[in-house]
Amino acid sequence: MALRITVIGTGYLGATHAAAMAELGFEVLGLDIVPEKIEMLSAGRVPMYEPGLEEILKKHVAGIEGSSGRLRFTTSWEEVAEFGEVHFVCTNTPQKHGEYACDMSYVESAFDSLAPLLTRPALVVGKSTVPVGSAARLAARLVELAPVGEGAELAWNPEFLREGFAVNDTLHPDRIVVGVESERAEKLLREVYAGPLAEGSPFVVTDFPTAELVKTSANSFLATKISFINAMAEVCEAADGDVVKLAEAIGHDERIGKKFLRAGIGFGGGCLPKDIRAFMARAGELGADQALTFLREVDSINMRRRGHMVELAREAVGGSSFLGKRVAVLGATFKPDSDDVRDSPALNVAGQIHLQGGQVTVFDPKGMDNARRLFPTLGYADTALDAVRGADVVLHLTEWREFRELDPEALGEAAGRRIILDGRNALDPAVWRGAGWTYRAMGRPKA
Ligand code: UDX
Repeated sequence: MALRITVIGTGYLGATHAAAMAELGFEVLGLDIVPEKIEMLSAGRVPMYEPGLEEILKKHVAGIEGSSGRLRFTTSWEEVAEFGEVHFVCTNTPQKHGEYACDMSYVESAFDSLAPLLTRPALVVGKSTVPVGSAARLAARLVELAPVGEGAELAWNPEFLREGFAVNDTLHPDRIVVGVESERAEKLLREVYAGPLAEGSPFVVTDFPTAELVKTSANSFLATKISFINAMAEVCEAADGDVVKLAEAIGHDERIGKKFLRAGIGFGGGCLPKDIRAFMARAGELGADQALTFLREVDSINMRRRGHMVELAREAVGGSSFLGKRVAVLGATFKPDSDDVRDSPALNVAGQIHLQGGQVTVFDPKGMDNARRLFPTLGYADTALDAVRGADVVLHLTEWREFRELDPEALGEAAGRRIILDGRNALDPAVWRGAGWTYRAMGRPKA
C-alpha cells in the first residue's frame, strides 16, 4: 500500500510539496492552522500564484470531479497524527522583527502540536530552513514528547525550490539532501523520492548539521553571486563599461557559469535576504562569525542597489526632489512569475520614492493584491499603460515577460516624458531608444 504522507504548513513550500507527493502516487493529508487556506485548497484553489500548481492540485484533491482523490486537507492535528507514516514539516521561518535571527516559533509549535499525538512509529521530516543545530534539538524534543518515544524519529530534508518553478523543482529536484540518523529513515526517504531517484536525481545522505547547512550555504552562494555581479555593475557605471556584456563574457567560463549573474536592483523575496542574515546570526552564536563577515558585504551591496535606483529616478526627474513628480513603476513582486512581494526590491524602491513625495503608480501582472496589502498608500493602476500615463519617468523593476512585450511607441504616447530606467537589465535598449526613449540601466553605458 502507498505510503501515507502528511504535510504540515501549506504555504509556497507546503502546498507544492503536498500536491507533488500526491502526483508521485502517495496518499497525502495537508494541514494548516489557517482555516481559510484549508478551505481554498480543499476546493482545489491555490492561495498564491504559482504556475502549474493549481493544475496538479485539482488533479488530486478529493471531491473534485475526475481527481485521483489522493490529496486532502485538514486543520486537525489528531487527524494528521492518526493518518501519517511520514510527516513533512513545511512551516515558514521568517526573520524576527528587529533582529537578524530567524523566527522558529512556527516550526516549534508544529512539533509541539504533533509530537504528543504520535502513538505509532513515524518519521518526521523537517523541510523548513532553520539555523544549524535546530534538528538535533527538535529530534530530542520529539522523542521526549511523543508517547511512542524513540519510535518518533526525525530527518532533515532541505528544500531548494524556486518560486515560479516550484512544481517542477519539487517533482524533478536537481538533488535530494537528507540528514538522517538511522537506516530506517534513509530507507523511508528513498521510498518517498523513488520517482525522482529513478530519473537520476542525486541523493546526498548527511548528518543533521550538514543537511541544515547545505540549504543556508546554497542560498548564501546564490546571494553572493548576485551581489558580485551587482558590485561589477557599480564599477562598470564608474568606468563606462557594460555589465551585461561582462556577465555574458565571464559566464562562458564553465567554472563561473551564466546563471545568477543578472545585475539590477538585486535580490529579494522570502528566502535569500532573511537566510543570509539568519546564517550570520547563527554563526555568531557558534563563535564562527568571522567566517561569514563577507555576507554582510553581500547584503550591503544588495541593499545599496535599491537606493541607487531611487537616485537614478531622482536624476531622471530633474535631480532634486520627487515632489510633484509622477513615477510609474512596472513590477511589484520580488521576481516574475510569482505574486510574492516579501522584501521585494521593486516595492521597496516604489515605497522610498513615495515617502520622498513622488506620486507613484504601480502595476504588476500578479502581485497587485499583495502589494496593496503591504503598501496601501501607493497608487495602483490596472494596466502597464495606465500606470505610465503622464509619468515623468518609468521604472522597470520586475522583469515580467509582459513588460518585455510592451510597445514602446504606445507607452511613449501615454507617458509624460519618454524616460525609462531598467532596473533588471531585461529590456532591449535599441528598441526603446529607437522609439525615442531615453533608456538607462544599471551598470550600462548611458547611451
Ligand atoms: C531562492 C533559491 O533560488 C531557492 O533555491 C531556495 O529554495 C529559495 O530561495 P527564490 O526566492 O524563489 O529561490 O528566488 P530566486 O530565483 O533565487 O531569486 C531570488 C532573487 O534574486 C529575486 O529577487 C531575483 O530577482 C534576484 N536575482 C536572481 C537577481 O537579481 N539576479 C539574478 O541573476 C538572479
